[in-house]
Amino acid sequence: MIELQGVTKTYTMGGQPVRALCQVDLSVAPGEYISVMGPSGSGKSTLLNMLGLLDRPDSGSYRLNGLATETLKEEERARLRGENIGFIFQSFQLINRLTALENIELPMMLAGVNPRERRQTATAVLAQVGLAERAGHRPGQLSGGQLQRVAIARALVMKPRLLLADEPTGNLDQAAGQDVIGVIEQLNREGITLLVVTHDINIGRRAGRRLRMVDGVIVEDIAGDGVAGATGERSASPVADLSSSAQSDAGPNANSGKATGGESGAPH
Ligand SMILES: Nc1ncnc2c1ncn2[C@@H]1O[C@H](COP(=O)(O)OP(=O)(O)OP(=O)(O)O)[C@@H](O)[C@H]1O
Ligand SMILES: [Mg+2]
Repeated sequence: MIELQGVTKTYTMGGQPVRALCQVDLSVAPGEYISVMGPSGSGKSTLLNMLGLLDRPDSGSYRLNGLATETLKEEERARLRGENIGFIFQSFQLINRLTALENIELPMMLAGVNPRERRQTATAVLAQVGLAERAGHRPGQLSGGQLQRVAIARALVMKPRLLLADEPTGNLDQAAGQDVIGVIEQLNREGITLLVVTHDINIGRRAGRRLRMVDGVIVEDIAGDGVAGATGERSASPVADLSSSAQSDAGPNANSGKATGGESGAPH
């Protein structure tokens, strides 16, 4: 599904180059559940933005579902993003003036879906994340966990196959964080490919595959240990099987096996 090869991204800050990604190779198969950890500034968000077509590499290639994205025009990238990729951010990124339901309708408005269908889909997805009764609430009237559920619902309305979450629990207390992780893991069990950036080792180790970044490089790419055992309910899940077979299909990964000292240094 995802094929990054030699992806490099350098920003310039005060005349100095800052290497955010350095020769990153990464293959992701459909249905995988991947966590991305590493120190602050190591390139995790840059990697996610790259995968989400929000940013372009300086060099290297990114194929999404077999399509070479670097040759696409901006509007083609936007369409590909809208149809395939959902985002969740630490800060929710909801619009305060709009109700929960209207926030969820927004991606469909941008895609030109008619009002009736928009309302129907948004209502159904809001119910799916357990917030049917909060449809008319504005963000200021919702808790952190509820805000993130609305953001998840918004990410889902276009039925993406890839869900990218950048510290989705970073602004939540532990209970709300668990709750949000539960919702997105359920989506993964239903087949969505999931990448979660997190500083929380307890969340990171739930993933079927764990990446660790340092200085723009993926220094560790390993099968996780906690997935099936974490709640006891995942061991029978078909997606657990799917993701483990997906890993063996993922092909040679230039970065696998370059372990550099486990979890010391994380989380921040
Ligand atoms: N728009 C930008 N302009 C300049 N430098 C940037 C920009 N975005 C990121 N960087 C730099 O690139 C590097 C990687 O940043 P990135 O946001 O990917 O890190 P991160 O791993 O997500 O960190 P954190 O855990 O703090 O969110 C950092 O050194 C950062 O300062
Ligand atoms: Mg970040």
